[in-house]
Formats: sequence, structure tokens, C-alpha cells
Amino acid sequence: MKLSATPRRWLIFLLALLPFLYLLQAVVRVQSGEWDLLGPEPGKAIVHFTGTWAFNFLLMTLAVSPLVHYLRWPWLMAHRRMLGLFSFFYVTLHGLAYFAFLLEWHWGDLGREIIERPYLLLGSLAWLLLLPLAVTSTRGWQRRLKRNWKKLHWLIYPAVLFASAHYLLQIRADWSEPVLYTSVSVALLLSRSWRLKRKTL
Ligand code: HEM
Repeated sequence: MKLSATPRRWLIFLLALLPFLYLLQAVVRVQSGEWDLLGPEPGKAIVHFTGTWAFNFLLMTLAVSPLVHYLRWPWLMAHRRMLGLFSFFYVTLHGLAYFAFLLEWHWGDLGREIIERPYLLLGSLAWLLLLPLAVTSTRGWQRRLKRNWKKLHWLIYPAVLFASAHYLLQIRADWSEPVLYTSVSVALLLSRSWRLKRKTL
């Protein structure tokens, strides 16, 4: 059975919301007494969960174009913007969770934190690069910026590199996930530049 565009859009929206709904119910359950549901450090668990989902959606957004090209799934293109916006949503939650649970809104500690954990700077740069993409994601901005709108979307490439560096710099014992995420990011960037090169040859 083939779904038409509108139900497909709703289905993708609801699926993308699932990690948030899962987190919400876990927080409610922790608040109502299931203290160990998110482990010994629930704040840290929330930062990790939202960071992982932000990265998942960033990679899904980058994967749209190769999937459309190689698997001939043109219908997917219409959903790229939503996937990108969900990445921004989860990374914003991730940053807020860091400020609320790990920094506990002690802004005075931020300078020392950045010196102790330089990966915070890289994560923040990635967020800053995604910010104009989220702000200009509406049809109105698309019309206003014309060809520059497409150019602006190049920011996603440095953003994913900063996000990979942010993750790699956190490696302590287990390096498998950060290396996996970085490899997928690099493969998606290479596939993009390879297709661009073929277009211009
Ligand atoms: C596009 C931007 C970003 C992405 C994709 C991202 C992704 C991630 C990922 C995947 C993790 C590791 C999760 C795990 O180990 O399970 C992580 C950890 C973390 N991120 Fe981010 N992040 C981004 C931006 C930020 C920003 C803006 C901040 C704060 C200002 C931040 C603060 C942290 C912290 C504190 C950790 C936990 C480190 C620890 O375990 O001590 N991240 N992030």
C-alpha cells in the first residue's frame, strides 16, 4: 500500500516525536517515585539521550539526498526539512538539559567548564550553524532568500563535522559509537561531494 504525502508527513512527524514522548514519560515516572528508571544520574542520562537523537536526526537529514539518488525514493525529499527541524529540536533540548542539569544554570561556571571540556565549544558551534537553517526553514524565508536559501544549507556540512568532533572529544573508554557516528558523517559528506563533482565534470 502506498501512502500519499500528507499521511506520510504525519507518520514521520509522529515517529520523530517518539523519542521525546519516551523521555517525557520517563521524566514523569522518575518524578513520581521510580527514582532509578534513568540510572543514578538522570540529568546526565537526559543529556546523552537527547544528544544521541540530535545526531541521529542530523544523519537522517544528510542521508535523504543519497537515498533519493541511489534508491530512487523521490518522495523522501519532501520530508528532509522536517527531519532537519527535529535535529534542531533535539539538539536544543540537549543544550537546555546540559544548562539545567549539569551546569544547574550557574553561568559563572561556564568559562571554567569550556576550558575543562572543550567539546562544549564544538557542540555549541554546531548548534549555532544549525540555528539559521531552522529560522529560515519556512516557505516565506525560502522565497525571500531565493538562491541564497540553498547556499545557506551548506552550513549543515560544517555543523555535522563540529558535531562529530564534539562526540569524538568525549571518548573515554568506549570509542565505538563516536567513531561509528563520525564514519557515517564522513561517508555522507564524501558521497555529497562525489555527486557534486560528477555533476560539474
Ligand atoms: C549539533 C550539535 C550537537 C550534537 C549532534 C551533540 C551530540 C552529542 C552526543 C551524541 C553526545 C554523547 C551522547 C552519549 O554519550 O550517549 C553528546 C554529549 C554531550 N553534549 Fe552534545 N551535541 C551537540 C551540541 C551540544 C551543545 C550545544 C551542548 C551544550 C552547550 C552539548 C553538551 C553535551 C554534554 C555536556 C554532553 C555529555 C558529556 C558527558 O558525558 O560528560 N552538546 N552530545
